Amino acid sequence: MERKWWKEAVFYQIYPQSFYDANGDGIGDLQGIMEKIPYLKELGITALWICPFYCSPLVDNGYDISDYYAVNSEFGSIEDARELLKCANENGIRVILDLVINHTSDQHPWFQEACADKESKYRDYYIFREDVSRLSQLRSNFGGSTWTQIRDGSWYFHTFAKEQPDLNWENKVLRKELYTMINWWLRQGVSGFRLDAITYIQKDMSFPPVEPDGPDGLCDVMKHCLNVPGIEEKLLEMRRETYGRGDFVTVAEAPGVPAEKLEAYIGENGFFSMIFDFSYTDIDIWIGEAWAKPKKWSVEEFKENLFRNQRLVRETGWAANYLENHDQPRSINKYFAGVEKEQMEKYADTMAKALGTLFFFLRGTPFIYQGEELGMRNTVFSTMEEVNDVNSRGQYERALLEGYTEEEAFEAVNRRSRDHARCPMQWNDNVNFGFSTEKPWIACNRICSKQTVERESQDKQSVLSYYKKMIRLRNHSPYAETFVYGDLIEVVYGNYELLAPCDEALFLYTRTLGHEKLLIICNFTDKQAALPECIDIAALEQAQILISNYEEGARSVIRPYEAVVYKLDF
Ligand code: NOJ
Repeated sequence: MERKWWKEAVFYQIYPQSFYDANGDGIGDLQGIMEKIPYLKELGITALWICPFYCSPLVDNGYDISDYYAVNSEFGSIEDARELLKCANENGIRVILDLVINHTSDQHPWFQEACADKESKYRDYYIFREDVSRLSQLRSNFGGSTWTQIRDGSWYFHTFAKEQPDLNWENKVLRKELYTMINWWLRQGVSGFRLDAITYIQKDMSFPPVEPDGPDGLCDVMKHCLNVPGIEEKLLEMRRETYGRGDFVTVAEAPGVPAEKLEAYIGENGFFSMIFDFSYTDIDIWIGEAWAKPKKWSVEEFKENLFRNQRLVRETGWAANYLENHDQPRSINKYFAGVEKEQMEKYADTMAKALGTLFFFLRGTPFIYQGEELGMRNTVFSTMEEVNDVNSRGQYERALLEGYTEEEAFEAVNRRSRDHARCPMQWNDNVNFGFSTEKPWIACNRICSKQTVERESQDKQSVLSYYKKMIRLRNHSPYAETFVYGDLIEVVYGNYELLAPCDEALFLYTRTLGHEKLLIICNFTDKQAALPECIDIAALEQAQILISNYEEGARSVIRPYEAVVYKLDF
């Protein structure tokens, strides 16, 4: 197994507008991130993924870029970006940025020129058609058609909001401009990129008519514009022209990459270092369907998806493991959705630690999303006016159009909104949780008043203290090598087959390297669970407990939401 800095890294994802507001205007900024570097260092993380802070009208919170070379003035300046990169690097923290190159903002000068002048060279940077009546009628990811008409009567294509026109990747000059921009950022000291929506860049430019799949007469864009054949050459070219030239890391948002293509994506000479898998984080929704459409899922299915991904990636490369990100509700609410309020209050911290344990010690690089280390839970919205997220608003409209009631539509938003993860980071008990002295751009969380960095730093039993311990174990303990490079084996399923019947509630896996074997056990339910027969209980009695979310770690019976990591002796 080839050693790489990014395999050993623990990533922390920052949503800059919600992290820390240093200049007191109600929105987070780069200076704010810089001021919190000591916190990040103390936490133990070694790399940051910072979401977009480029110039943007913020229709999709920065995923609509109007200038790739400049920083949105609300976040700071390009000098601040350079200083932040320097400061992070000096503190042993690498930084990767979000690369949003499937689309730009409609305010980008390229698009403005393209609309103003049909003859402009920028017209072909985007996907324009004079008449779309006989072309694919697709539903964009945020609802409504992918085609929007401009003043001159022509139409442009957008996979996401209408303010996010898709770039035309068939245009070589455009591709070259993008590569120049990527290389420029690499020269500024970034260590790589998270690639946004990258599996959408290839389209069938003939846009053949398709069958509608909803009452709006449209068909899901994902069904026709994701991983379209021909994408491989473009991804290879980009790698060759940019980050493939150095020791950089790339992690791609690439849903739906089929198993047989994984080698090409993340194999030895793959397009990327890692890709994010969505099979377990989107387990609670039907892909491409309205959030309002109910979906039941079982722990068994979750387990299967999680370990299937581990199995597949094991054959080819390296996983990017995550519980949360800026597009997801908080993980406790998602994975423990049916739990009664009282139980939730009682066990929330235990659950947060159990989820953390389950994910953190999987084979691959862990990504922690801001606030996850505090055990943050979803907030509650009382009206749609409080919801900022463009996707949530689109989902609400779509649900109504599909015949759901307002209550059902709103319930779905409250359950799934991306705003849950975007509430301000909670630093202390001051006004706005110390995030800003001004009214924040988005309301603070209404549920988690106790989850602050200051409180949890002083509490040895807190979720934050637990995360620090997990990070130390993975990176700075005698077991670090095994946690990072060890093989992962599902105890009950082996790698491929069922070895022993096991309580559905239990997740069990080992990490092994040479003579070292670590056993990770998590109970996903509020019921006690017995260990399967294949576990040698007598050996466990003797084994050392490396970390546990109960004061006295488990032995033969695993308590509600219990998580424990053992060092087994051979
Ligand atoms: C995926 C990003 O994670 C999300 O936040 C964004 O809205 C879309 N891509 C469009 O860029």
